[in-house]
Amino acid sequence: MPNEYLPQKAVVESIIKETLDTKTFTLRLVDKFERRLRYKPGQFLMLSLPGYGEAPFTFASCPKKDGRFEISVRRVGSLTEALHNLKERDIVGVRGPYGNWFPLDKLKKKDILFIAGGCGIAPLRSLIQYVLKNKRDYGKIEVIYGCRSPKDIFYKEEMKAWEQSKNSAVHLTVDEPDAAWGGACGVVCVLLPKIKVNPKTTMVFLCGPSVMVKFAIRDIVKLGFKEQNIYASLERYMKCGIGKCGHCYVKGKYVCTDGPNFSYAQMKKLGIES
Ligand SMILES: Cc1cc2nc3c(=O)[nH]c(=O)nc-3n(C[C@H](O)[C@H](O)[C@H](O)COP(=O)(O)OP(=O)(O)OC[C@H]3O[C@@H](n4cnc5c(N)ncnc54)[C@H](O)[C@@H]3O)c2cc1C
Ligand code: FES
Repeated sequence: MPNEYLPQKAVVESIIKETLDTKTFTLRLVDKFERRLRYKPGQFLMLSLPGYGEAPFTFASCPKKDGRFEISVRRVGSLTEALHNLKERDIVGVRGPYGNWFPLDKLKKKDILFIAGGCGIAPLRSLIQYVLKNKRDYGKIEVIYGCRSPKDIFYKEEMKAWEQSKNSAVHLTVDEPDAAWGGACGVVCVLLPKIKVNPKTTMVFLCGPSVMVKFAIRDIVKLGFKEQNIYASLERYMKCGIGKCGHCYVKGKYVCTDGPNFSYAQMKKLGIES
């Protein structure tokens, strides 16, 4: 039987510095025969570096034919520090894809609202790229993104293209504006009055700090968005990523295999309203 914990080799093709503490890596499998990780937006992989360990990271780009995929890594500890020291052509270990994906079938013809805080934009970016690539299948796309300061905003250039796409809008807010900032200030909820989607039929995807997710859900439910149309990506401590070690277990569910994406109705049942 193949060893489920054995990583495949992936090469670092390019590195972009997004913010002071976050870099985006473009990776590609080294294997000559299996060049693609067949994942869907919302899934994650386990990424490892010998001597530093292994951790889960979400796919931050939509699946591409050439097999390249991106992950955005925030430097918080020893593994992520070591990843930040990598150079182009270095090799990392990857295994996956793991976890469930966003409910792509439920989205067809619908308006979609994305609400992200900080590095929570990474998993949503995978879905945003996916729907923008297949735009004729979807309705209006609105993105609300909140960060600590203008310096902490990811994917700045790409967001300009999201805004220029037909029927889509991006709304930004920061907690600590600088002198050049002319946009909104405060938590993501301050931007809700700006959105122009129909709450009754719009699908909502959230990812960010748990307090942000909790208050944003409270406010959108008040605006009439339906609980079964609201999904959040959850982060829990993970070790194996494949439902074996129990690290991510919550009330009968493993976040690594049953999640990390849950509808609000499911979150309430699990008592994890974020
Ligand atoms: C499904 C999933 C997807 C993720 N996707 C991304 C991603 O796309 N980009 C990214 O930068 N990070 C992501 N993370 C978090 C990432 O796995 C951790 O930051 C990583 O394990 C840190 O490793 P380290 O050795 O650098 O830090 P450590 O030394 O292990 O930890 C440093 C600090 O981060 C905290 N921490 C570590 N893991 C978690 C966690 N899972 N939840 C909350 N706090 C944690 C620790 O408590 C400690 O305070 C994801 C986590 C999960 C569960
Ligand atoms: S991380 Fe091991 S069971 Fe989920």
